[in-house]
Amino acid sequence: MLVGMGAVATTLVAGVEAVRKGIAKPIGSLTQMSTVRLGKRTDARSPLIKDFVPLARLEDLCFTGWDIFPDNMFEAASTAQVLDRDQLEIIRPFLEGIRPLCSVFDQYYVKRLNGRNVKRGKNKRDLAEQIRADIRAYKKETARQVMIWCGSTEIFLTPTEVHSSIEAFEKGMEENDINIAPSMLYAYAALMEGIPFANGAPNLTVDLPVMQELSRRNSAPITGKDFKTGQTFIKTVLAPAFKARMLGVSGWYSTNILGNRDGEVLDDPESFKTKEESKLSVLDFILQPELYPDLYKDLYHKVRINYYPPRGDNKEGWDNIDIFGWLGYPMQIKVDFLCRDSILAAPIALDLVLFLDLAARTPELKDLGIQEWLSFYWKSPMTAPGLYPEHDLFIQLMKLKNTLRHIKGESLITHLGLEYYD
Ligand SMILES: NC(=O)c1ccc[n+]([C@@H]2O[C@H](COP(=O)([O-])OP(=O)(O)OC[C@H]3O[C@@H](n4cnc5c(N)ncnc54)[C@H](O)[C@@H]3O)[C@@H](O)[C@H]2O)c1
Repeated sequence: MLVGMGAVATTLVAGVEAVRKGIAKPIGSLTQMSTVRLGKRTDARSPLIKDFVPLARLEDLCFTGWDIFPDNMFEAASTAQVLDRDQLEIIRPFLEGIRPLCSVFDQYYVKRLNGRNVKRGKNKRDLAEQIRADIRAYKKETARQVMIWCGSTEIFLTPTEVHSSIEAFEKGMEENDINIAPSMLYAYAALMEGIPFANGAPNLTVDLPVMQELSRRNSAPITGKDFKTGQTFIKTVLAPAFKARMLGVSGWYSTNILGNRDGEVLDDPESFKTKEESKLSVLDFILQPELYPDLYKDLYHKVRINYYPPRGDNKEGWDNIDIFGWLGYPMQIKVDFLCRDSILAAPIALDLVLFLDLAARTPELKDLGIQEWLSFYWKSPMTAPGLYPEHDLFIQLMKLKNTLRHIKGESLITHLGLEYYD
């Protein structure tokens, strides 16, 4: 169940159908292409993840969702202009069959958008109940469900009293509390219906005590937030490398140009603030300036996003990194990533949906609430209260694969390896 049928959602659905038809490969998806090593290096056991754990098969996936625009998925994919026209034509009938349900939307939370495919209700609680009714109708057609937020980035909000408990939140919905954004109504509806929820945007949404309580109570796993796709993906690879070699970093300037609807929404300062917070936190956690003041305490970190329509979804992300080495001598690294936003995001969204569905069926995971083992996919990984998030991509990958080994009763891989020299 996709909330928001824009560039990411349509690229995901079109991609799944293209793979099912045998006209493309699921590149970028761990659940479809990655293996997991089991036992000793000498055992030569490396099954595909999808053969190792009981994931839903692509053939069995169905899609529905909501959007503020009434366009079907073919029209929405055509507007997004991510995939080639020729490729879209092959799967056109399938995409035309998926029409968005009426959404819950309020322009106060996304200033640059306005659409007419929007529900009316007497208050926010009534709107959440209408989403629950949509879910219950879909439950009649499908065996299991997962909800993923692929909607626009909402304005910056911070947790308040109204988010502190289920009672406070329900009262707040009745009173139309301004701190309750539409994304929270979808999350509330999903969790009340016992459905796992993933948050692809940097909004608070499920990053709130009320949602964590509901998630645990109803055994509906949650994960978030903000897909780690382009620049932050590279940042969480490079920063651990500098720290591993004890190289200093004095500055990291990141700028982006992109011209899709996401870029337009992020052109609004209030939505950008939500994204900026998510992008900025990464370096501090990885570099740990409090442990290494000589190397990182004066690091100047800046992130910019510029809306530039000619580029569409084909974002360009530049990084200028000022580092220093032995005796403090300065060096520079420049990264120019000519990426495609939704091509990077779609396989992440697919994996998250499949892994959340797995978590909901796994006794060791289903009652935990936050699924920290999925940090690999996020710019701002959610953690239990009081824990700092793990941002290093390779630690995140090890955590993910060790979780799969753990739930299947296989020994964890520690990379100690002394036994090979006995
Ligand atoms: N593509 C990436 O690399 C990437 C990475 C990280 C995060 N994200 C986030 O993922 C989200 C989706 O990105 P996108 O490129 O598909 O954007 P998009 O603008 O193409 O699609 C978002 C869709 O959500 C719809 N929408 C907004 N509010 C809604 C609501 N309340 N209910 C239902 N639908 C709603 C919009 O109408 C739009 O169709 C954005 O928040 C973006 O910041 C994307």
